[in-house]
Amino acid sequence: MKTVALCAVALMVSATAFAQNIALPAPQKSGGKPLMEALSQRQSARAFSDRALSEQTLSNLLWAAYGFNRDGMRTAPSANNRQEFEIYVALQTGLYLYNAKDNALELVKKEDLRSKTGKQGFVGVAPLNLVYVYNTGKMGDEKMAYADCGFISQNVYLYCASEGLATVVRGFVDREDLAKAIGLKSGYAITLSQTVGYPKE
Ligand SMILES: Cc1cc2nc3c(=O)[nH]c(=O)nc-3n(C[C@H](O)[C@H](O)[C@H](O)COP(=O)(O)O)c2cc1C
Repeated sequence: MKTVALCAVALMVSATAFAQNIALPAPQKSGGKPLMEALSQRQSARAFSDRALSEQTLSNLLWAAYGFNRDGMRTAPSANNRQEFEIYVALQTGLYLYNAKDNALELVKKEDLRSKTGKQGFVGVAPLNLVYVYNTGKMGDEKMAYADCGFISQNVYLYCASEGLATVVRGFVDREDLAKAIGLKSGYAITLSQTVGYPKE
């Protein structure tokens, strides 16, 4: 009897944990502005509305940033194809890890950590901050990791320019403090963070 009760509790716990993950809708891989128009409009912004992004927009944005666009390969290049990056997604509802294979957001912390992702006031107002983290075991050369990060960030810049969203990539981050807040394991390092949202009207 005890075993049955324990199993039922375990099932409920795992169902709750699963329910906290977000299965994103399939990314829309067509449309958007022509590339030359997106390049014309790419810019950094530092004033954001607090309006939330839809799950469809999150899916499209994350796929553009670092999704798979062909057999095991990504939308962003990486030195020696190390694919060493992970993207943490800080939303008002919590902190998630982007799972590109399953197109899902895996809950890491049910806490609003947006304001911890940078030292500028707008980071706590904008609906989304991405935190770029790399696996130092996969990529030992920090310079290469920062280069790889730049491609991911530029994908986000171009997606935002195409969709009329505001964004800025940021190095003004307290990495030690943020790593603690995230609960980052050893062997992982934060490079940059990037804020995304609607422009402040
Ligand atoms: C590696 C890197 C780090 C940056 N860090 C910050 C930052 O911490 N805060 C910020 O407001 N902008 C930051 N920026 C944005 C730059 O200030 C911005 O790209 C530059 O002023 C040119 O403006 P534009 O992006 O609108 O062309 C950063 C840009 C890069 C490439």
